[in-house]
This record gives sequence, structure tokens and C-alpha cells, in this order.
Amino acid sequence: MKEKIKEQFKQRFGTDCVTYASAGRINLIGEHTDYNGGFVFPGAIDKYIMAAININGTDKVRVYSMDMDAYCEFGLKEEDAPQEQWARYIFGVCRETIKRGGIVKGFDTVFAGNVPLGAGLSSSAALESCFAFALNDMFNDNKIDKFELAKIGQSTEHNYCGVNCGIMDQFASVFGKKDCLMRLDCRSLEHEYFPFHPEGYKLVLLNSKVKHELVDSPYNKRRESCERVAATLGVETLRDASYTMLADVRDKISDEDYRRARYVIGEKQRVLDVCDALERGDYETVGRCMFETHDGLSRDYEVSCEELDYLNDVARECGVTGSRIMGGGFGGCTINLVKDDRYDNFIATAREKFNAKYGHEPEVINVIISDGAHKVED
Ligand code: GLA
Repeated sequence: MKEKIKEQFKQRFGTDCVTYASAGRINLIGEHTDYNGGFVFPGAIDKYIMAAININGTDKVRVYSMDMDAYCEFGLKEEDAPQEQWARYIFGVCRETIKRGGIVKGFDTVFAGNVPLGAGLSSSAALESCFAFALNDMFNDNKIDKFELAKIGQSTEHNYCGVNCGIMDQFASVFGKKDCLMRLDCRSLEHEYFPFHPEGYKLVLLNSKVKHELVDSPYNKRRESCERVAATLGVETLRDASYTMLADVRDKISDEDYRRARYVIGEKQRVLDVCDALERGDYETVGRCMFETHDGLSRDYEVSCEELDYLNDVARECGVTGSRIMGGGFGGCTINLVKDDRYDNFIATAREKFNAKYGHEPEVINVIISDGAHKVED
């Protein structure tokens, strides 16, 4: 990919360039907990957004997306915001860097990627983190710290893309480390790396190809539900809520809000249980928690869909250790922890049954836990 991007850059802009990359992510457990001040457990993967960049000496950004074969040009002032959604991710990162006192000047860029779009693997966070990292390196002597880079991406989503997301995706994309999952406490931002090589198991994603699109999705509504319950409980976020506290306000909140909060309270604890289980090498517990998360996301949080529930059922039938919908929901992938000796049968069965029911096979995505944002050496 690097050579193709550099060649395209040379053709289009005629100068040398520097290349940067940032990764998509998986999340083993801890879904919709980040904006509730809870824990998440993601890792960066070997699917990237890569950008070739050079300073152009003007006050304009000129950007070409290879995957969309689309070009856009914009200035760096607030009123220069482009119309195209894809370009707003880059514009947003420039603006959020400037708002934090960082320097951004005109640059030329060509970018491309292999993070599947709309699959819940955070292609947008990879794009934001790639540019946040690059602008820090090119214009700011790397003085902006890594959490601030993640927040630049998150604020881009909030202020330029209409998604009130938490910090998980951008955190994973910036902080990712080869062979490690990371437990992040989204309230204190404390984080810990957990080496992850489940001997005898494989981690595989099945993409339902139902496009998940968080912009205009009920994602923001889920967040509002949680905030309403937290306000009724008189706590800052659901991080500070318990089942008992929730039971006490049951009459004061809607049934829907009640179920949303019930899921979040359970999920908060499951992340900690999974971390403990991993330290003991107890993958059966990890898997059981994953199934519980799926049930909660499907029934209480209601962010699943028929196709993902079906993939989850097939996983259960095939004796998969753990399976659940991954990411924001409303489509995308399931993440599956499968014993080596059950893998082939599971994949074949899922392909066949899903195809028979929905007319297409799920895409099988094998991932390797990899490094996050970085400069790509020549
Ligand atoms: C999306 C958001 C994240 C997180 C997940 C759900 O990926 O961008 O902040 O809330 O959904 O866990």
C-alpha cells in the first residue's frame, strides 16, 4: 500500500512526501462503556489507514482519497469546512489541533486504507489518528501528548461528524501495541497493556456486511439514555451506578432507559472479570462473558440486528468459546474466540448457513494485534 500511495502522491503533487499510518481496532469486551466512564479492552489491528503528506507552503490542504477516487481542497479556518463527509474527518483534525494551540499549515496528502468501512473496526478513528499523529510530527515537534491526539480525533467526531462517541477507538488507534490488548479506565485514563496470545484459540471476526453507520444512527440516543439515568441517580456517569441504585429509581425512569443502564452496569464488571480470567488463562470465562455481552447488547441495549444475532446463534451451535457483536453496533462484525480444533467447522458452517439465509456469505476477517499510529519508515 505504501508504494502505491507514494507513487500517486508523486504523480499528483510532484514532490517528496513522508508516510504515516494508524490502525483500526478490535475490542475484546467493554462495549458502550467508554462514554459512561467505564472500562474498555481494545487492541489495534493489522488494518490501516495510510497517508503520504508534504507541507505545501500555502494555507490550503489538498487531499486525495485513493479508495474513493475523490479530491478535495480546503482552508484551515472554521468557515472553510468542506461539505464532503470524508474530508471533514481531516479538516476536523486540523481544526481540533489548532484549537488546542497546535500549529497546522497547508499540506498535500494522498491517503488509502484497508480497514473495512462500516464494519465496526473504526476506520474513521484510524483516519483521524493517522492525521493527528502526522500533524504532531510535521508541525509540532511531537509536543502534543498521545492522549491529546486521541482526544483530537474524538472531538473531530463530536464537532465535525455528528457522532458523540467515547474515547475508545481513537485511544486504541493511537496507543495500540503489537500483541497487546489494553485495558483503559475511561474515567481516569489509566491504562494497562495485557499481552494477548490465547494458546490454542483463534480470534476471528465475521462481518455481516450490514453497514453500520453511526452518523444519524441511534448511537447518540443510547448515550442520552445513559446520561438521563446518571442524572436521575445524581452521579456523573454510570460508572458510579450499581444494580441496587438502579432498582431504587426504576419508577422514575422509562423502561427503555432502565434496560440501557442495566446493560452498562453489567458490562462494566465484565471487563474486569475478563482481565482477571485472562491472567489465569481461563478462556472459558472470557468466552462466557462475551456471550453475556452479546445478550445484553441485543436485548437491553438494542444495538444488534437480525444478521448479527444469527451469527451469534451459529457460534453457539458450533461450540465457539465466546462470540458477540463488536463496536458501536447496528451492523458490522461479531468477534469470536474459537478453539483451534473448532475453527474450520465454525467458519464453514457460518458461511453456509448465513449464505442460505441472507444470500451472501459473511466476510471472514482474521486480525493480528498490532501497533497503533506511527511514521512509516522508508
Ligand atoms: C463506537 C464509538 C466508541 C464506543 C463504541 C461502543 O465505536 O466510537 O466510542 O462507544 O462504539 O463501545
